[in-house]
Amino acid sequence: MSAFQWTRKDLLSLYDLEAEEISFILDTAAEFKKVSARQVKKVPALRGKTVVNFFFEPSTRTRVSFELAEQRLSADIVNVTASTSSLTKGETLLDTVRNIEALNVDLLVMRHPVPGAANFVAERVGASVVNAGDGAHSHPTQALLDLFTIREHKGRIKGLKVAIVGDIMHSRVARSNLWGLLKLGAEVTLVGPSTLAPKEFEDVGVKVCHNLEEAICDADVVNMLRIQRERQESGFFPSTGEYARFFGLNSHTARFLKKDALIMHPGPINRDVELSSELADGERSVILEQVTNGLAVRMAVLFLVAGCNKN
Ligand code: CP
Repeated sequence: MSAFQWTRKDLLSLYDLEAEEISFILDTAAEFKKVSARQVKKVPALRGKTVVNFFFEPSTRTRVSFELAEQRLSADIVNVTASTSSLTKGETLLDTVRNIEALNVDLLVMRHPVPGAANFVAERVGASVVNAGDGAHSHPTQALLDLFTIREHKGRIKGLKVAIVGDIMHSRVARSNLWGLLKLGAEVTLVGPSTLAPKEFEDVGVKVCHNLEEAICDADVVNMLRIQRERQESGFFPSTGEYARFFGLNSHTARFLKKDALIMHPGPINRDVELSSELADGERSVILEQVTNGLAVRMAVLFLVAGCNKN
């Protein structure tokens, strides 16, 4: 591993990070992935540290893998959900986290529906804050596990053509992926109906395309996003059937894919809407590998930020 020194207390967004820092997390994750292959899958790296997982939005993959990552690093863990906390009695988010911090907590892992919630907390507490998804803003560990999975398969990120398809507008996964991919030198195309993939995104250095077949024909990686009905205030396309016909990846549209293209999806999948079951479970799909790699990536992130907090 390189002599690079990690200096950040928090992980809030890939927009904040230099390419060298992203690569360092991926290299650290590769070391932690080896731990999960051992008979004893545990290391004492966070022994004596306490982690609180705040999940104020539903989650399966992120919540379970953060909790497993903390256990594998030997941390003490407490889980808090909004519905069972004093937030329901009107306590503010800041009061809630300050009270938790008064219990000598070292790390907060936080998923929240409001964009910027993790930044707001991180600027006001000494504990390290790891953003596990904040509204449509950022989901840095998802992008890191996506980069890790691409790098494992393709051996590099630089120069790859990556198409991110679907509900770009409401997607924290797309926003995080595009920063990570651009910083590491990939060419990114965002694909979707003009209502969900507006041309304004071209200002940050990506291509925007409204034709799936055109966008995926030379892609090395196709990352299919979930249609996020919970974040859409009104209809952005006429019907689910029409969305699936024009922007879904299925046996018809996949004819345009390169033979060695990777098919990715952050989950949860709307099967046979953005992605057919046949392709989600097919040989080009790396969707479950993404989940596996999420554990190693989250171990790396927790390990690195824990070394820099002020508690
Ligand atoms: N990809 C992702 O964030 O999944 P969950 O919402 O299940 O955590």
